[in-house]
Amino acid sequence: MAISDQDSWWRDAVIYQVYPRSFADNDGDGIGDIDGIRARLGHLSELGVDAIWMSPWYPSPMADAGYDVADFRDIDPAFGTLAGAEALITEAHAAGIRMIIDIVPNHVSSEHVWFKKALADPGAPERELFWFRPGRGPDGDEMPTDWVGEFDGTTWTRTTDPDGTPGDWYLHLFTPEQPDLNWDHPAVRAEFEDILRFWFDRGVDGIRIDSAALLFKDRDLPAVVDGRRHPFHDLDEVHDVYRAWRRVADSYPNRALIGEVWMPEVDRFANYLRPDELHAAFNFDFLVCAWDPRLMRECIDRTLHAHAAIGAPATWVLSNHDVTRHVTRYGRAETTFSFANNLDGVPVDLELGTRRARAAALLSLSLPGATYVYQGEELGLWENENIPVEKLQDPMYGRRGHSRDGCRVPLPWSGDEPPFGFSTVAGWLPQPPEWKDRTVQAQTGDPSSMLELYRAAIGLRRAEPGLHDSAMTWLPAAPGVLAYTRGPGFACVLNMSGVAVTLPDHDRRLLASNPLDGDLLPPDTAVWLRLRTES
Ligand code: NOJ
Repeated sequence: MAISDQDSWWRDAVIYQVYPRSFADNDGDGIGDIDGIRARLGHLSELGVDAIWMSPWYPSPMADAGYDVADFRDIDPAFGTLAGAEALITEAHAAGIRMIIDIVPNHVSSEHVWFKKALADPGAPERELFWFRPGRGPDGDEMPTDWVGEFDGTTWTRTTDPDGTPGDWYLHLFTPEQPDLNWDHPAVRAEFEDILRFWFDRGVDGIRIDSAALLFKDRDLPAVVDGRRHPFHDLDEVHDVYRAWRRVADSYPNRALIGEVWMPEVDRFANYLRPDELHAAFNFDFLVCAWDPRLMRECIDRTLHAHAAIGAPATWVLSNHDVTRHVTRYGRAETTFSFANNLDGVPVDLELGTRRARAAALLSLSLPGATYVYQGEELGLWENENIPVEKLQDPMYGRRGHSRDGCRVPLPWSGDEPPFGFSTVAGWLPQPPEWKDRTVQAQTGDPSSMLELYRAAIGLRRAEPGLHDSAMTWLPAAPGVLAYTRGPGFACVLNMSGVAVTLPDHDRRLLASNPLDGDLLPPDTAVWLRLRTES
């Protein structure tokens, strides 16, 4: 089944995030690769997803797992070749799956040719493409600002001039290996528009935009002061860039731009989704929301309200490669997520977390908009919090004490012990031996497994008219219960209270996240119902 020419596919797609390092390894080096993804496309077809979002696959020194890009027009040898990427795009399309790639416009790798030239010669024109500034203090040995980086680290690194003397500093909101680009410079804008065309010409259907709100910096480099315009978050100038990107996307049929926009202020968030800007943005409000019926309902209402005002589709995201997997999150007493609140080592009830994750799947797959599935979520994987320190690779670890590697562990495909069919050798991060019950092979055909729940839910979603264009309407429900209809014949009921509740009047049960107790819906369980409609 080839991809359809359906317009606006991104509005209600199920989009599966592939983290290429950890999906499947074909060449036996313990690191996932493009040929591994090609060999396992059948898994995604059977799951029924509409699109893949591919985390960065470009040449990179991997200081930040590929979010430090040295060349946006090629593929890292660890992952394969450009020809292999093109073959994957073609094969995915033939399987009816669209391809979204990740573009990282805020920064490049310190190995990018522009930065190498800028560093080699203080007089080089490439210097202007970055943020080089003299230091403060009599010897210039104090950073130009006291800005705190996105990984909690410092944001400036001092250079050494060719004659060996200390030189200017350069800005990096992330690691020193990720110098920030100067988006005031027209060459930066032109370059990225060209990169978009490069990939759209190769058939890519969408772009995920990394750190989408950080591109511009206040040129006066002011201090961060509460209540004043932030010097590098969400500066108004960024919208002009996305309007230009939208013009590029619109010059091709059915291409989508999807922003990584972490933004607590809903109206500022919605600005990115105006009709001439991005098509969609990740809903982090939902991702970080506690397992709490009142907060969850408020979050859903807030999301739908903000998106309706500008006609943009909502997105529903439970996990990704940056955050603690939600089986683990929902199994803790504190169920929210925040980078500032490190819960590593806090006790987890994995059975409870799994039960809630199953219910959350039926929630996120039946709300209006697009749903994102992070690889392994369909297998019910939990965070691996037992990775030996010497194996950790995430640069966040040294700065915040929390590593994102626990959610980036290679997928278990088959067999009884690591590497569970991921590779022929040990994977780049260790898999918990307990994942023997969570392999694709072990779950296939087991109606009680997470995998079969996801397959059934995505299949029903595809076939159910109410789960596409229809709005949702809340139904009256007992305290702690979320119940809503989509279209006249479909309802979802999620019991977040501590007691079993009676189901609303219905014709048929379509799918339940856990067995029902007669006519009662147990706690932490969701069900999809066919409602009686007048004939
Ligand atoms: C957001 C990405 O999701 C994350 O993995 C990365 O470290 C930062 N942006 C920097 O590119």
